[in-house]
Amino acid sequence: MTDRLILGIESSCDETGVGIVRLGPDGALELLSDEVASSVEQHARFGGVVPEVASRAHLEAMVPTMRRSLEIAGVELSDVDAIAVTAGPGLAGALLVGVSAAKAYAAALGKPLYGVNHLAGHVAADTLEHGPLPDRCLALLVSGGHSQLLLVEGLAHKITELGSTVDDAAGEAYDKVARLLDLPYPGGPPIDRLAKTGNGCAIAFPRGLTGPRDNRYDFSFSGLKTAVARWVERSEKAGDELPLADVAASFQEAVADVLTMKAVRACKDLGIDTLVVAGGVAANSRISGLAAERCAEAGIDLRVPRPKLCGDNGAMIAAIGAHLVAAGAEPSPVDLSTTPGLPV
Ligand code: KG4
Ligand code: ZN
Repeated sequence: MTDRLILGIESSCDETGVGIVRLGPDGALELLSDEVASSVEQHARFGGVVPEVASRAHLEAMVPTMRRSLEIAGVELSDVDAIAVTAGPGLAGALLVGVSAAKAYAAALGKPLYGVNHLAGHVAADTLEHGPLPDRCLALLVSGGHSQLLLVEGLAHKITELGSTVDDAAGEAYDKVARLLDLPYPGGPPIDRLAKTGNGCAIAFPRGLTGPRDNRYDFSFSGLKTAVARWVERSEKAGDELPLADVAASFQEAVADVLTMKAVRACKDLGIDTLVVAGGVAANSRISGLAAERCAEAGIDLRVPRPKLCGDNGAMIAAIGAHLVAAGAEPSPVDLSTTPGLPV
């Protein structure tokens, strides 16, 4: 068996991504290119992703992003052995652009097409940086649309959800709190930066679903967001200057505390010694820092991909596609459709 080139297309939200990986005969993955065109600036003034704007931006960006990715990888389209594309979850119109493009390329080249799960892709991104995952590991997947604890017993076929958010996703909480604090969208990076200059213990914001009777693996962030809103309102009414950095740091501490506590607890409950933190929010400095401290204490091996691989990208879709190809999975049918609500 020789090397195979897998091309991945991502368009589930506001990033158009095309990535190319080389799958070695021994199953090793080599990242050749990872081009991303983002429409985030077009959404910033609305404070969130506008689906119609995202779809149009994907249409405009798809072919140029594909060309750049091939050029950087130094390969021709005809060299590609299989095409993977995000089939869900995500925005219906946005997914449709990627899936339509992938079908067209696969049909024109006569190559197999794999419709893949975006969430599995986020976890697979880590294998591009840190190599294969152990047979059993836990993934904390935190992004703008999802916050989940996943038991991973094989990337290609066996990912089980242990818990998820009952309301807002972690990234959504960042974006909403940023709006309350008059910070730009997306809210994660500016809150992360501001929090570094504040005191995370200044305000005791609530930690959702951490009581003795609460679900051990589910998350809730809407109470935390409301608590920040109340704090801002009270400061405004009292005419006090809002200690912005302390609010940001205390909010971030509450999110990092709950996410890492529950992830380490799940590892201990299940006797698992590897934790992968993935998704856009995994780029957060305090979440990865606290996860490192708590994993070291508990003897757990922590894996966090570099920030570029945490956010949405095409390389992670190529990576999960490569795992499917290596596992001998059946390609998708030619009438592959999108599934906006696809579970993991
Ligand atoms: O995975 P992703 O790129 O897209 C989705 O699949 O949702 O995640 C985007 C989310 C946004 O909510 C953004 O605010 C958040 O990731 N994010 C961060 C950081 N960088 C991005 N959240 C916290 N800290 C960061 N440094
Ligand atoms: Zn994502």
